[in-house]
Amino acid sequence: MRIAILPDEATIASVAADRIEALYQRKPEFVIGLATGSTPLPLYAELIERYKAGRLSFAHARSYNLDEYIGLPEDHYEGYANFIHRNLVDHVDFAPGAAHGPNAWTGDSHAAAAAYDQAIKDAGGIDLQVLGIGSDGHIGFNEPAGSLTSRTHVGVLTDQTRRDNSRFFDGDITAVPTHCITQGLGTIMEARENLMIATGENKADAVRELIEGPISQRWPATILQMHDNTIVLLDRAAASRLEMVDFYNEVWEKEQLPL
Ligand code: PGA
Repeated sequence: MRIAILPDEATIASVAADRIEALYQRKPEFVIGLATGSTPLPLYAELIERYKAGRLSFAHARSYNLDEYIGLPEDHYEGYANFIHRNLVDHVDFAPGAAHGPNAWTGDSHAAAAAYDQAIKDAGGIDLQVLGIGSDGHIGFNEPAGSLTSRTHVGVLTDQTRRDNSRFFDGDITAVPTHCITQGLGTIMEARENLMIATGENKADAVRELIEGPISQRWPATILQMHDNTIVLLDRAAASRLEMVDFYNEVWEKEQLPL
């Protein structure tokens, strides 16, 4: 795991976008995994700017969202496919039909989850997966106590997560769905690169466990310790409960030096 503690969200967005731009340069037909939530929004804004500046193109790329709520109308503003379209896909040059998400409207979400897992495999797997982290340590909607090797599946949203997400539903937790389809931890672990972003004090406990805790289904994101190409971009608030900040800063600075 490579860890960068950066001064602000703009710097995080820039460092994250550099990795996606580098991926585009070596593989224009890249497959990107997209996360929803507040955290990646500055990154998506930066990607739109770089697209407009001619620095990268999504014309040959495909995207696969991490998760989708079950139970919202398909055109609901907070549906995750709609979120991704509104905040990224509609502003860049993805080909029609190239942006994918779990289909939570088929009437058989278990079958839809399995089909989505297979679709990612059929696409050749995800080159780079953007990840946020929940305050309870989830990635995607893989909540505590789920299998660390799960495939894309129907999951339950804990009340902690529903409370965290109620800000998108006028503060009404009862409006937040109780179920979702989410890429599993085993699915996420097959991404060739994971790019985790965590900002804000609210994430400090989860970040401490992610980096310095034991691998445990109590904190599902800790499985990323077993991934050989994961980068974690943090602001100082999210990093505030880490024990070895000086060490991470030293390693990151040395990694930026030319060999
Ligand atoms: P957030 O959500 O970016 O809105 O904090 C992250 C997550 O729940 O994975």
